[in-house]
Amino acid sequence: GKVLLAYSGGLDTSCILAWLIDEGYEVAAFMADVGQEEDFEAARTKALNCGASSFNLVDLKREFVEELVYPAVQCNAIYEGVYLLGTSLARPVIARGMMEVAHKEGCDFVSHGCTGKGNDQVRFELAFYGLDPNIKVIAPWRDPVFYNRFAGRSALLEYAASKNIPVTQTQAKPWSTDENLFHISYEAGILEDPNQTPPDDMWKLTTSPQKAPDAPEQVQIEFLKGLPVKVTYPATGKVVTDSVEIFLSLNALARKHGVGRVDIVENRFIGVKSRGCYESPAGTILRVAHMDLEGMTLDRNVRALRDQFITIEVAKILYNGFWFSPEREFLTAAIPASQKTVNGLVRLAIYKGNVVVEGRDADEGLYDAKFSSMDELGGFEPTATSGFIEIESIRIKAWGRANAKRGQA
Ligand code: ARG
Ligand code: SIN
Repeated sequence: GKVLLAYSGGLDTSCILAWLIDEGYEVAAFMADVGQEEDFEAARTKALNCGASSFNLVDLKREFVEELVYPAVQCNAIYEGVYLLGTSLARPVIARGMMEVAHKEGCDFVSHGCTGKGNDQVRFELAFYGLDPNIKVIAPWRDPVFYNRFAGRSALLEYAASKNIPVTQTQAKPWSTDENLFHISYEAGILEDPNQTPPDDMWKLTTSPQKAPDAPEQVQIEFLKGLPVKVTYPATGKVVTDSVEIFLSLNALARKHGVGRVDIVENRFIGVKSRGCYESPAGTILRVAHMDLEGMTLDRNVRALRDQFITIEVAKILYNGFWFSPEREFLTAAIPASQKTVNGLVRLAIYKGNVVVEGRDADEGLYDAKFSSMDELGGFEPTATSGFIEIESIRIKAWGRANAKRGQA
């Protein structure tokens, strides 16, 4: 049979590649460009040297931004209040790109190097099955033949040496990472002690807030139906309008100013807790800006229902790996309906790890200074509010009387 292997260029997937060939498979290698810093040519050479029959590099950056990242911005998706879901967001486009290549290459099997304890195995495999119910998955780290043979790093190194697989010179970092244009994750290794402060030189994408510039930098983000469509940098007059360029330019700004670092102990889908550190530079700016604009442009009850159902559930769906599912289609269909009025601009100052809102402007008519003003009568008669409070107080007064009767005022 023929296998398409999600190849990273690292020790694990290189050994998996060679092992699959030992097991009698023909192996094609797959690599997605989702904006990670990577030497793709070195990976190609290495995969082919390991015996891959082909190396398939697919650029998925635009679909990643437009189909996953921006809907997540539109619904303020966040996991357990902290994690902006950077890895989870990339998995659906990677899995879909991989299935397309698997079909083109005539593969009956797909394979990956995810561990048996993580979220990614679930995300990839559920996506594969949703896209092609007939595909067969080989998960070496859950196959006793593989994991009993390669228990521990030394066995992998020995095998790599026997197969002439070069082990990269750069000293292995004592943690595991996953990078794309939205974020980088750091997990495992020394981070498994949740009380171990990450070393300064771990953070790869952002400047540390302490070393960031001493002057704030302003940026203006314009949204149309909840999507960022125009970013202006007043200092230079630079204007960006392409969806991917907008994201990359905000990344550059946030990285320079130390924006987007978090550290969390999160609940993985399978039920174990795991400590993760993340840098999500542009995503952090966009979240602040988008949520601010919604304050001015989104109806109160639409907002409450969206927060309760769409925001929470879409985050869970992304995290748990159910992007290709009926419930995801159902919920994301409601996102555009919630964003019709989210039009306008937000002005921000980016400064030493902070994203500070300086003002916003929108013309939806939902915010009306006349209705809100403390300085003038307007919109409705003040006496009308007396009736409103009187009716609302019926129940509250009854509760107060009941408390008094039980002697606990
Ligand atoms: N804990 C994060 C998540 O589940 C990051 C996972 C990182 N994955 C990886 N293969 N290093 O989304
Ligand atoms: C892995 O276990 O392969 C990476 C982490 C995760 O998937 O949660």
